[in-house]
Amino acid sequence: MIQPGRDCNLCGLCKGRTNLVLPSGDLSSPVVLVGEAPGETEDLQGMPFVGRAGKILNQAMEDVGLDRSKVMITNTVKCRPPDNRDPEKEEMDACRRFLESELLGRSVVVGLGKSAIKDLLGYTGPMAPVVNTRQYIEVQGTRVLFIPTYHPMACVYQKVARAELRNTLRMIKEEFGL
Ligand code: URA
Repeated sequence: MIQPGRDCNLCGLCKGRTNLVLPSGDLSSPVVLVGEAPGETEDLQGMPFVGRAGKILNQAMEDVGLDRSKVMITNTVKCRPPDNRDPEKEEMDACRRFLESELLGRSVVVGLGKSAIKDLLGYTGPMAPVVNTRQYIEVQGTRVLFIPTYHPMACVYQKVARAELRNTLRMIKEEFGL
Protein backbone atom coordinates (compact mmCIF):
# COMPACT_ATOMS: atom_id res chain seq x y z
CA MET A 1 0.00 0.00 0.00
CA ILE A 2 1.20 3.50 -0.70
CA GLN A 3 0.23 6.29 1.66
CA PRO A 4 0.30 10.07 1.39
CA GLY A 5 3.11 11.75 3.28
CA ARG A 6 2.25 13.89 6.30
CA ASP A 7 2.99 16.95 4.17
CA CYS A 8 0.81 15.80 1.23
CA ASN A 9 -0.55 18.74 -0.79
CA LEU A 10 -1.87 16.97 -3.88
CA CYS A 11 -5.22 18.76 -3.43
CA GLY A 12 -6.64 21.72 -1.54
CA LEU A 13 -8.04 19.62 1.31
CA CYS A 14 -4.60 19.76 2.91
CA LYS A 15 -5.30 23.36 3.94
CA GLY A 16 -7.92 22.42 6.52
CA ARG A 17 -6.34 19.17 7.70
CA THR A 18 -5.46 18.38 11.30
CA ASN A 19 -4.55 14.76 10.56
CA LEU A 20 -4.47 12.51 7.54
CA VAL A 21 -7.01 9.73 8.00
CA LEU A 22 -5.43 6.51 6.78
CA PRO A 23 -6.93 2.98 6.58
CA SER A 24 -7.66 1.16 9.83
CA GLY A 25 -8.59 -2.37 10.89
CA ASP A 26 -6.99 -5.47 9.38
CA LEU A 27 -4.81 -3.95 6.67
CA SER A 28 -4.51 -7.31 4.93
CA SER A 29 -8.20 -8.23 5.10
CA PRO A 30 -9.83 -9.57 1.91
CA VAL A 31 -12.67 -7.10 2.61
CA VAL A 32 -12.39 -3.32 2.37
CA LEU A 33 -15.12 -0.83 3.28
CA VAL A 34 -14.75 2.54 1.53
CA GLY A 35 -16.54 5.56 3.02
CA GLU A 36 -16.75 9.10 1.74
CA ALA A 37 -14.36 11.36 3.63
CA PRO A 38 -13.23 12.03 7.19
CA GLY A 39 -15.49 14.17 9.37
CA GLU A 40 -14.51 16.36 12.29
CA THR A 41 -13.83 13.59 14.81
CA GLU A 42 -11.89 11.56 12.25
CA ASP A 43 -9.77 14.61 11.37
CA LEU A 44 -8.98 15.19 15.04
CA GLN A 45 -8.18 11.54 15.81
CA GLY A 46 -6.64 10.53 12.47
CA MET A 47 -8.85 7.41 12.25
CA PRO A 48 -11.75 6.62 9.89
CA PHE A 49 -15.31 6.20 11.19
CA VAL A 50 -14.74 7.12 14.82
CA GLY A 51 -17.45 9.83 15.04
CA ARG A 52 -21.21 9.63 14.67
CA ALA A 53 -21.12 7.70 11.39
CA GLY A 54 -18.65 5.30 12.99
CA LYS A 55 -21.02 4.59 15.88
CA ILE A 56 -23.77 3.73 13.42
CA LEU A 57 -21.40 1.52 11.41
CA ASN A 58 -20.21 -0.22 14.59
CA GLN A 59 -23.82 -0.90 15.61
CA ALA A 60 -24.68 -2.33 12.18
CA MET A 61 -21.61 -4.59 12.34
CA GLU A 62 -22.45 -5.69 15.85
CA ASP A 63 -26.04 -6.44 14.77
CA VAL A 64 -24.79 -9.01 12.26
CA GLY A 65 -21.86 -10.27 14.35
CA LEU A 66 -19.14 -8.89 12.09
CA ASP A 67 -16.01 -7.95 14.01
CA ARG A 68 -14.78 -4.51 12.85
CA SER A 69 -11.16 -5.52 13.37
CA LYS A 70 -11.51 -8.17 10.64
CA VAL A 71 -12.06 -5.71 7.79
CA MET A 72 -10.11 -2.75 6.51
CA ILE A 73 -11.88 0.61 6.59
CA THR A 74 -10.88 3.60 4.47
CA ASN A 75 -12.28 6.60 2.58
CA THR A 76 -12.18 8.03 -0.95
CA VAL A 77 -10.11 10.95 0.37
CA LYS A 78 -7.80 11.03 3.36
CA CYS A 79 -8.47 14.63 4.48
CA ARG A 80 -11.63 16.26 5.79
CA PRO A 81 -13.51 18.48 3.31
CA PRO A 82 -14.51 21.88 4.73
CA ASP A 83 -17.88 21.83 6.55
CA ASN A 84 -18.15 18.14 5.71
CA ARG A 85 -19.16 18.86 2.12
CA ASP A 86 -18.89 16.01 -0.39
CA PRO A 87 -15.38 15.53 -1.76
CA GLU A 88 -15.00 16.96 -5.27
CA LYS A 89 -13.91 14.95 -8.27
CA GLU A 90 -10.48 16.63 -8.39
CA GLU A 91 -9.94 15.75 -4.72
CA MET A 92 -10.94 12.12 -5.19
CA ASP A 93 -8.76 11.96 -8.31
CA ALA A 94 -5.78 13.35 -6.39
CA CYS A 95 -6.21 10.66 -3.70
CA ARG A 96 -6.93 7.89 -6.19
CA ARG A 97 -3.40 6.46 -6.29
CA PHE A 98 -3.58 5.80 -2.54
CA LEU A 99 -7.08 4.33 -2.68
CA GLU A 100 -6.16 2.03 -5.58
CA SER A 101 -3.13 0.77 -3.72
CA GLU A 102 -5.44 -0.07 -0.80
CA LEU A 103 -7.90 -1.98 -3.02
CA LEU A 104 -5.50 -3.95 -5.18
CA GLY A 105 -5.80 -7.70 -4.69
CA ARG A 106 -8.79 -7.62 -2.28
CA SER A 107 -11.66 -10.10 -2.58
CA VAL A 108 -14.37 -7.47 -2.23
CA VAL A 109 -14.72 -3.71 -1.94
CA VAL A 110 -17.86 -2.35 -0.29
CA GLY A 111 -18.75 1.20 -1.32
CA LEU A 112 -20.46 3.00 1.55
CA GLY A 113 -22.67 5.69 0.04
CA LYS A 114 -22.84 7.93 -3.00
CA SER A 115 -19.33 9.41 -3.00
CA ALA A 116 -17.58 6.03 -2.89
CA ILE A 117 -19.94 4.66 -5.54
CA LYS A 118 -19.38 7.69 -7.77
CA ASP A 119 -15.60 7.56 -7.32
CA LEU A 120 -15.14 3.83 -7.82
CA LEU A 121 -18.03 2.83 -10.10
CA GLY A 122 -18.66 6.14 -11.86
CA TYR A 123 -22.36 5.74 -11.01
CA THR A 124 -24.34 8.82 -10.01
CA GLY A 125 -27.94 7.59 -10.26
CA PRO A 126 -30.36 6.66 -7.48
CA MET A 127 -29.12 4.24 -4.82
CA ALA A 128 -31.95 1.70 -4.72
CA PRO A 129 -31.26 -0.04 -8.06
CA VAL A 130 -27.58 -0.68 -7.31
CA VAL A 131 -27.51 -1.40 -3.59
CA ASN A 132 -26.27 -4.92 -2.85
CA THR A 133 -25.69 -5.76 -6.50
CA ARG A 134 -22.40 -7.31 -7.58
CA GLN A 135 -20.33 -5.00 -9.75
CA TYR A 136 -16.72 -5.08 -10.87
CA ILE A 137 -14.25 -2.23 -10.81
CA GLU A 138 -10.87 -2.06 -12.47
CA VAL A 139 -7.93 -1.58 -10.14
CA GLN A 140 -4.57 -1.28 -11.90
CA GLY A 141 -5.65 -3.62 -14.68
CA THR A 142 -7.33 -6.20 -12.42
CA ARG A 143 -11.04 -6.79 -11.74
CA VAL A 144 -12.21 -6.43 -8.17
CA LEU A 145 -15.71 -7.28 -6.91
CA PHE A 146 -17.53 -4.13 -5.78
CA ILE A 147 -20.74 -4.02 -3.76
CA PRO A 148 -22.51 -0.66 -3.45
CA THR A 149 -24.47 0.00 -0.26
CA TYR A 150 -25.81 2.84 1.88
CA HIS A 151 -23.61 5.15 3.92
CA PRO A 152 -24.10 4.75 7.70
CA MET A 153 -25.41 8.35 7.92
CA ALA A 154 -28.20 7.44 5.46
CA CYS A 155 -29.42 5.00 8.11
CA VAL A 156 -30.33 7.81 10.50
CA TYR A 157 -33.55 8.66 8.67
CA GLN A 158 -34.10 5.67 6.39
CA LYS A 159 -35.14 2.30 7.74
CA VAL A 160 -34.53 0.76 4.32
CA ALA A 161 -30.93 1.96 4.36
CA ARG A 162 -30.37 0.44 7.80
CA ALA A 163 -31.77 -2.91 6.69
CA GLU A 164 -29.78 -2.89 3.43
CA LEU A 165 -26.51 -1.96 5.12
CA ARG A 166 -27.01 -4.83 7.55
CA ASN A 167 -27.74 -7.12 4.59
CA THR A 168 -24.45 -6.09 2.97
CA LEU A 169 -22.47 -6.74 6.13
CA ARG A 170 -24.19 -10.07 6.76
CA MET A 171 -23.50 -11.15 3.19
CA ILE A 172 -19.77 -10.36 3.31
CA LYS A 173 -19.41 -11.94 6.74
CA GLU A 174 -20.87 -15.19 5.43
CA GLU A 175 -19.25 -15.18 2.00
CA PHE A 176 -15.77 -14.34 3.21
CA GLY A 177 -15.87 -16.35 6.44
CA LEU A 178 -15.20 -13.38 8.75
N1 URA B 1 -17.98 9.42 7.13
C1 URA B 1 -17.21 8.80 6.22
O1 URA B 1 -17.62 8.58 5.10
N2 URA B 1 -15.99 8.43 6.59
C2 URA B 1 -15.52 8.62 7.80
O2 URA B 1 -14.39 8.23 8.06
C3 URA B 1 -16.35 9.26 8.73
C4 URA B 1 -17.56 9.66 8.38
